[in-house]
Amino acid sequence: MNTSDSERIASVLESAKYKQTPNINEADLVVINMCSVRQSAVDRVHGIAEKFKKAKSKKPAIILTGCVLKKDKKAFAENFDFILDIKKIDELKKIAREQIRSVPSDYLDITPKYSSKYSANVPIMTGCNNFCSYCVVPYTRGREVSRPAKKIIAEIKNLVKNGYKEVWLLGQNVNSYKDKDISFPELLKLANNVPGEFWIRFTSSHPKDFNEDVIEAMAKYKKVSPYLNLPVQSGDDKVLKSMNRHYTVAQYKNIIKKLRKRIPDISISTDIIVGFPGETKKQFENTVKLFRDVKYDMAYINKYSPRAGTAAAKLKDNVSWDEKKRREKVLTEILKQTALEKNKKLIGKDIEVLIDSERNGAFFGKAANYKTIKIHPVIRQGAPSNDGANLIGNLVKVKITEAKPFILKGEFINEK
Ligand code: 5AD
Ligand code: SF4
Repeated sequence: MNTSDSERIASVLESAKYKQTPNINEADLVVINMCSVRQSAVDRVHGIAEKFKKAKSKKPAIILTGCVLKKDKKAFAENFDFILDIKKIDELKKIAREQIRSVPSDYLDITPKYSSKYSANVPIMTGCNNFCSYCVVPYTRGREVSRPAKKIIAEIKNLVKNGYKEVWLLGQNVNSYKDKDISFPELLKLANNVPGEFWIRFTSSHPKDFNEDVIEAMAKYKKVSPYLNLPVQSGDDKVLKSMNRHYTVAQYKNIIKKLRKRIPDISISTDIIVGFPGETKKQFENTVKLFRDVKYDMAYINKYSPRAGTAAAKLKDNVSWDEKKRREKVLTEILKQTALEKNKKLIGKDIEVLIDSERNGAFFGKAANYKTIKIHPVIRQGAPSNDGANLIGNLVKVKITEAKPFILKGEFINEK
């Protein structure tokens, strides 16, 4: 969502006379689009601000936007010329020296300057009503607002017409999408009906809203890729309650079971917070158990950091940083084993890969199940060499030859 917002900011600035510079020291205007979800992200912004303060060369105007906590605003005000509410990008008009033409009042209506020519971010909703006790998002992004389905589908149609191979439907909680009688599964259906060869991906989902209709839609609509990030956050019911997540571990596991039954080749990732206030070693062991049971393909493991204004910030952050690091390591080790186990099953399979880069003679891309694939082209004498520029952004067939926990290796099939 942050990347997508940056794409809108870029398009507004480029509609005036601004151009992106490869050298930040030459910039007249710098916009920092920040995230506040973890303290480490906030610290990074302070670091960048310091850098500009010390810069000896010309000082650009610097604007801070994105998710900014009220509490941090005061500290940031010293180092930034302006703090902009992300939903009010039109206010750039007041700040920028170059003249900016009219900007749609609903910031999601701004046509983004897509940063890729084959994979696009398409926000379907913004904001969150869930108030998980550790999370700043409801405070920084406000309540849920869904974008009209008509506009979403028109954007997807246009992207596919222009050769895009992947669209990411974005929202803090996509499962609570609602435009009159169109809820998330219907939106998937409408997106799937857009003619053309492309993948539909979405993030993020909330287990409490992940019902059978969504599973059914994922199974039925072939353009919806067999990948799901379903954040569990903890494998302990008491911790989940304290996190205000509104589901139990058993309910979560039941969703996973149904998903795997209906979509056998699905790959599943999750988000975890280790060291939530009061999380005992025993409670953490329940997360370890969940990891062993579910066998994730990927996990984004976060060490808890208190966020001012949230309910959990009132609880004592009583798990030491070292213990949080230890818990993160334990889960990472299990993840490596389960991901490798799952990846090994893909050896010998032919899959489609969307190529996104080339490095040192090898191509990289993502499979429909969101696994990273490294492809070494087999160079045969007399055979025409692969034109890297032509392959990037294309879907190609690959045979998987080798598996590592977080990467698979393969060969192009058409070379055989
Ligand atoms: N501390 C650590 N991790 C957090 N996340 C959200 N808030 C916090 C916090 N206060 C994590 C959650 C969420 C992901 C985007 O960031 O795991 O799913
Ligand atoms: Fe934050 Fe996600 Fe919970 Fe919303 S659902 S409060 S964005 S963790």
